[in-house]
Amino acid sequence: MSDILVLNGPNLNLLGTRQPEVYGSTTLAMIEDACRDRAQTLRYTVTCVQSNHEGELIDAIHAARGRHVGIIINAGAYTHSSIALMDAIASVEIPTVEVHLSNIHAREEFRHRSYIAPVSLGQICGFGATGYLLAMEALAVHLSKGAA
Ligand code: DQA
Repeated sequence: MSDILVLNGPNLNLLGTRQPEVYGSTTLAMIEDACRDRAQTLRYTVTCVQSNHEGELIDAIHAARGRHVGIIINAGAYTHSSIALMDAIASVEIPTVEVHLSNIHAREEFRHRSYIAPVSLGQICGFGATGYLLAMEALAVHLSKGAA
């Protein structure tokens, strides 16, 4: 098993046209392609899922058990509100890296709190689409330590 789940939450399907001054002009399809390429270099594969629905994100996390060695998640606005997503990640015990395109700590105060952070290996934010690739590198390093 060497597949990584790249999970994107609400409104991230609109990347490319959504507030490009905040989120950049890279589309989600471009990000997913870049993740696939980087994963291949690192000898992993990726499965990409995006949903605007909290329950579907939770279902994808539950289904990750036995299928994915790690999760990279940008939960969008659910980051700041969803105890249910936090509980789902904690329940499956799959190494998870949290990503945000923007630097959530430099934005409105309500974005400073993340319910995902306490159940993640770490958080990468503020580096735009590159953050997903940094997350993949970090996950690969973590997984290789486990394998050693
Ligand atoms: C985001 C930051 C969130 O605060 C916001 O609600 C998003 C995108 C980011 O990638 O920067 O939808 O997760």
